[in-house]
Amino acid sequence: MVEMKVTPWTVEGEIDYKKLIKQFGTAPLTDKLIDEIKKHTGELHLMLRRKLFFSHRDLDWLLSKYDSGESFVLYTGRGPSGHTHIGHLVPWIFTKWLQDKFDAELYFQLTDDEKFLMNRQLSLDDTQKFAQENVLDIIAVGFDPKKTKIFFDTSYAKTLYKIAVRVAKLTTFSTAKAVFGFNNSTNIGMAFFPSMQAAPCFLPSELAGKKVPVLIPAAIDQDPYWRISRDVAERLGYYKPAQIHSMFLPGLQGPGSKMSASKPNTAIFTTDSLDVAEKKVMGAFTGGRGSLKEQREKGGNPNICTVYQYMYYIFEPSDEKIKQMREDCKAGRVTCGECKQRLAKYVIAFLKEHQKRRKNAKKNIDKFLVKD
Ligand code: TYM
Repeated sequence: MVEMKVTPWTVEGEIDYKKLIKQFGTAPLTDKLIDEIKKHTGELHLMLRRKLFFSHRDLDWLLSKYDSGESFVLYTGRGPSGHTHIGHLVPWIFTKWLQDKFDAELYFQLTDDEKFLMNRQLSLDDTQKFAQENVLDIIAVGFDPKKTKIFFDTSYAKTLYKIAVRVAKLTTFSTAKAVFGFNNSTNIGMAFFPSMQAAPCFLPSELAGKKVPVLIPAAIDQDPYWRISRDVAERLGYYKPAQIHSMFLPGLQGPGSKMSASKPNTAIFTTDSLDVAEKKVMGAFTGGRGSLKEQREKGGNPNICTVYQYMYYIFEPSDEKIKQMREDCKAGRVTCGECKQRLAKYVIAFLKEHQKRRKNAKKNIDKFLVKD
């Protein structure tokens, strides 16, 4: 068994999320806090109800600020190292819901510098091209153009750099080593980069000329960046940024498998044709038995089934239907082929709509993109 490893660049092994909360020093998203959110939103997004979002930092503080009249800004991002897959869309879809419910502004960072520095195979030209592609997916999610600013680090650096250098000055290399696992062969660009990802945490305050609370929705792999940001925030005269963390949607090859651009069958990409996406779903890892006879007799195991997890966390909105799906699986009343077909239908409908919006997004880039 591969040992669990979660960093912004590597997610390996079977993830024990309770252990991760302890290791990272974050707080579990309790039912009480979820109820607090509901007081403001009136309903709960599926990803909250089903606890795909499971951990946070200072969300209680952020909500109490909101209660006392201080609205917050959302911040999230993408490292453009390839095309967008369904996992990336998790925090973005949830962020759009938060934007709608709290009428919040959003800052969306594309770290074309990070992916160039981190990945030997990618030129700066490559990461900038992927950023151009990814931005279409971001817009396709449906953010409000009047309340959303999207930027690439390399074309918004003048604004970000002034904040980043102040973060960098207060962050020692020994902290960066401890937080990110940097060593003597890490290039010095990467050693500086965390301060570029920290900068948007403070940008809303800089632009407003007063402290502005910020909430970052992202999967928990990005948390190390927020440790650096939180560590320096108060010394720089800002609030610490709050976070809400999601789990990882697993790769299609089952628990412990990661979605990866270099192994296309592990993930559904937004640029996949409908045929390819369907084939990927039909080849997904399930919790089924070796033979149909055994499946009918002993039932399957939804807990390890990717198809079930995709339905549970993303695609099946009905609580009743998902419960039925689980029970039918365990009782051997349904085959894996049937469940895959059900998921494939949802995935195809989703992709069709997303790809239409993605095409449309090309016309609207200028409404979202900021440069300096
Ligand atoms: P990146 O491009 O690796 O990932 C983009 C966002 O997707 C989340 N994510 C996932 N969520 C659920 N299931 C998965 N399988 C999955 N894989 C990735 C990531 O947590 C992330 O939220 N350095 C960042 C870019 C960045 C950023 C930010 C991200 C810059 N500023 C602020 C979040 C918030 C990166 O490379 O993300």
